[in-house]
Amino acid sequence: MTPLIPPAAEAAPRGYFTLPPPRAAKPMLPFDPPLPAGLQCAWLAHRPGEAAEPAVRAWLGDRLGCPPEAVVLSRDARGRPRLEHPALDVNWSHSGDGLLVASGEGLRVGIDLERVHARVRALELARRFFAAPELDWLEAQPPAARDTAFLRLWCAKEAVLKAHGHGLAFGLHRLVFVERDGALHLVETASALGHADDWTLREFVPHAGYRAALAWRRA
Ligand SMILES: CC(C)(COP(=O)(O)OP(=O)(O)OC[C@H]1O[C@@H](n2cnc3c(N)ncnc32)[C@H](O)[C@@H]1OP(=O)(O)O)[C@@H](O)C(=O)NCCC(=O)NCCS
Repeated sequence: MTPLIPPAAEAAPRGYFTLPPPRAAKPMLPFDPPLPAGLQCAWLAHRPGEAAEPAVRAWLGDRLGCPPEAVVLSRDARGRPRLEHPALDVNWSHSGDGLLVASGEGLRVGIDLERVHARVRALELARRFFAAPELDWLEAQPPAARDTAFLRLWCAKEAVLKAHGHGLAFGLHRLVFVERDGALHLVETASALGHADDWTLREFVPHAGYRAALAWRRA
């Protein structure tokens, strides 16, 4: 198996600009407004219980113009995927029959996908894990809208925490979102996450019956 990029010591004199630029890989999701150049997100078919990495690897191979087996993917100590590439970051999320993958050039990316279903314990979970302004916002929602509001917050938080790499263990209350003009915005973070303004969040419905959020900041 030929790694996409030689180990760092051998590669030292080689600038990454000698690599072919990553290209658009299918099937892309139609974002409106479009995602910034270099950031891509795709919906891939997935069977519950099946490993997601082979499908992600094939998608990345398509993007990088190489066979899937040449894509070098490892995990850090917290399980965050690490793509052996000087400029691309990758993250993915699976739920039900769906798999969402995102990759960004010069960016740190995190993505979360959740299947929509009734959350009887939404407020209880929010009381336990969310920040006070988020709980206030949820409690102010009409009961019929509360599940969706909870799911939106959950996806937003998880997307940022997956980009950061510590996952949920970081503490869901340590990043605070508010809704403005119909979209969630990160307004407060623990210093380990940098400034709230460093982050961009896009909420979306990738497929009927699912909610998702994609978060990114400069690498
Ligand atoms: C990472 C985490 C947020 C995933 O949540 P989830 O809703 O169950 O799963 P999702 O479908 O959204 O994401 C799963 C994918 O996230 C990625 N992932 C795993 N750990 C990650 C991390 N720490 N940061 C970012 N992404 C991670 C993997 O690609 C995984 O895909 P895989 O199942 O094919 O390996 C959650 O499991 C978590 O917080 N884990 C704690 C991480 C931690 O503290 N580990 C310490 C181990 S010593």
